[in-house]
Amino acid sequence: MRTLLEGVGAYLPERIVSNDELAARIDTSDAWIRERTGIAQRHIAGPHETATFMGAEAAKRALAAAGAKAGAVDAIIVATSTPDQGFPATAVNIQSALAVTQGFAFDISAACSGFVYALSVADGMIRAGQCRNVLVIGTEVYSRILNWQDRGTCVLFGDGAGAVFLRASGQGESRGVISTHLHADGRYGDILYIDGATGQTGKSQHLVMNGREVFRHAVAKLAAAVDEALEANNLSHADIDWLVPHQANRRIIDAMGKRLNLRPDQVVMTVERHANTSAASIPLALAEAVQDGRIKPGHLVLLEALGGGLTWGSALIRL
Ligand code: ACO
Repeated sequence: MRTLLEGVGAYLPERIVSNDELAARIDTSDAWIRERTGIAQRHIAGPHETATFMGAEAAKRALAAAGAKAGAVDAIIVATSTPDQGFPATAVNIQSALAVTQGFAFDISAACSGFVYALSVADGMIRAGQCRNVLVIGTEVYSRILNWQDRGTCVLFGDGAGAVFLRASGQGESRGVISTHLHADGRYGDILYIDGATGQTGKSQHLVMNGREVFRHAVAKLAAAVDEALEANNLSHADIDWLVPHQANRRIIDAMGKRLNLRPDQVVMTVERHANTSAASIPLALAEAVQDGRIKPGHLVLLEALGGGLTWGSALIRL
């Protein structure tokens, strides 16, 4: 049994905010942001563009790309750190928005690694026979948890959603999810976190980050996670067609591409236009590269992400 990736969809908020627009409000500059991060602009959600709304739109597009109907979906797994409510889960709200009434739906909280975690859980559940037609969605509205006075964090993030439609294949299929590799180390919970949770008073509810520490961990841990994925499958760097990394920062992405001996045109990069959309960044990047024809059926695609927790992981997929 293999988990096939049948369709990918994306949604980005209508409003685009440039670095210059931020520089008019806080003490920063287009040059600083571009040089340190590669980011030129980000999409920022309007009031109607909730995690549920954007996730449902991305899911509809993934279903359309797969030629599948919502009525076939028997599980919805959503990765988000910015749900609309404490509960019901955003996945359940999206289920309702899609008019799906069968199956099950739940959220996963793994910060920027959320999509890789959700993909891994979906793959495991499909292989175990618990579901056959699954939507995995990353949807984030970080603009609502940023301290817009903190120039060290507010320039880095954007909003958006991406989704994949997964389907259980029959025997003998060589395409699909090949393996996933998840890690966490809670000792580093204090270098990247949201200060507080629903109902807690006296907390800012804002994202807090020690950027240098996150950077230090990112390259080493991501390198180990991609090596693990290749070694587990007796593959070498030369077998990879595409790297679709979490889009936090151009410098981290470039370092990973170099480490894997990939040409720059084998690394999907959206951070310049999307900024860091946390759990949405990988499916957003994947959707773009599939839709514009760069990633083709049969290509071997490596995903990797690191985020608050710390959590990190990788996944290998043959499309
Ligand atoms: N504009 C202008 N100056 C700024 C800004 C800004 N937006 N933000 C910080 N600075 C200043 C600081 O105040 C500091 O000034 P000082 O030297 O006078 O004290 C100076 O720039 C350097 O600050 P650092 O934080 O040390 O800058 P650094 O070179 O580390 O770059 C950055 C910061 C871009 C956040 C970097 O640490 C990084 O990329 N870290 C990775 C973190 C990341 O990607 N996080 C995303 C979430 S986690 C994830 O998705 C993997």
